[in-house]
Amino acid sequence: MTAKIIDGKEISKIVREEWKLEAEKLKEKGVLPGLAVIIVGDNPASKVYVRNKIKACHDVGLHSEVHEMPEDTQEVMLLDAIRSLNENKTIHGILVQLPLPDHIDEDKVLETISVEKDVDGFHLYNMGALVVGNTVFPPCTPYGVQCLLEHMDIPIEGMNAVVVGRSNIVGKPMAMMLLHKNATVSICTSKTRDLNQYTSMADILVVATGRPEMITGDMVKEGAAVIDVGINRLDDGRLVGDVDFDSVKQKAGYITPVPGGVGPMTITMLVANTVRAAQSIHKLG
Ligand code: GUN
Repeated sequence: MTAKIIDGKEISKIVREEWKLEAEKLKEKGVLPGLAVIIVGDNPASKVYVRNKIKACHDVGLHSEVHEMPEDTQEVMLLDAIRSLNENKTIHGILVQLPLPDHIDEDKVLETISVEKDVDGFHLYNMGALVVGNTVFPPCTPYGVQCLLEHMDIPIEGMNAVVVGRSNIVGKPMAMMLLHKNATVSICTSKTRDLNQYTSMADILVVATGRPEMITGDMVKEGAAVIDVGINRLDDGRLVGDVDFDSVKQKAGYITPVPGGVGPMTITMLVANTVRAAQSIHKLG
């Protein structure tokens, strides 16, 4: 079997158009959805991500602004900047780009963002809401993965779903979202013994480990949907995922490419969450 490629760029264009229409409805009622992104320091990858997020807002016609703060910013200054954005009526979504410099307490920062503007869905309240199934803002990457599965008509209910990676940004929320869709979910980590035993059972395999090309064709069930959240730059300059695309493509039913799979969807779901935040704050949903 040769897998169907899940074209994240194409699906993301379609989904952005849907949210553009929602944004236009808000604008007709006098509300321009606005996103503020705070970036601390000069991490080159973070700068690229932020640039792409701002471009996506522009494409959909949202207001966006970037607050750049130096690497040695004191935590209190960052918290003050967030509090001021919490009060700012032109801003409906606030995102602090991660990772933060080591001297800043990430948990404190995320909990300072107003719950109703937490478009990343990383606030403890939003994380807890996700666990009980009252999702306010689903974290953008797993939300994007769910959207890709839906667009490809890949059934989730009753399926064996295996998530490799247990980060707060991807693995844990992804597992919860699949569980709420009635999949049977296993979460594997870098310490999982006999990982192959789990991955080869998966009808839906989501990989978010940060380990280049670690999932190979022999680890995958024939016909599975394989979603690669990883993005790794190799020493030879190549950009690869956590899945060995060439071998897995021979076995899977569906596969996301890297780049052009999950990445564009993550950014699209940030736009979606920003519009949803504006709808909710102005009770216009
Ligand atoms: N760094 C890597 N991914 C993300 C994300 O989804 N949101 C934020 N805020 N930072 C990130």
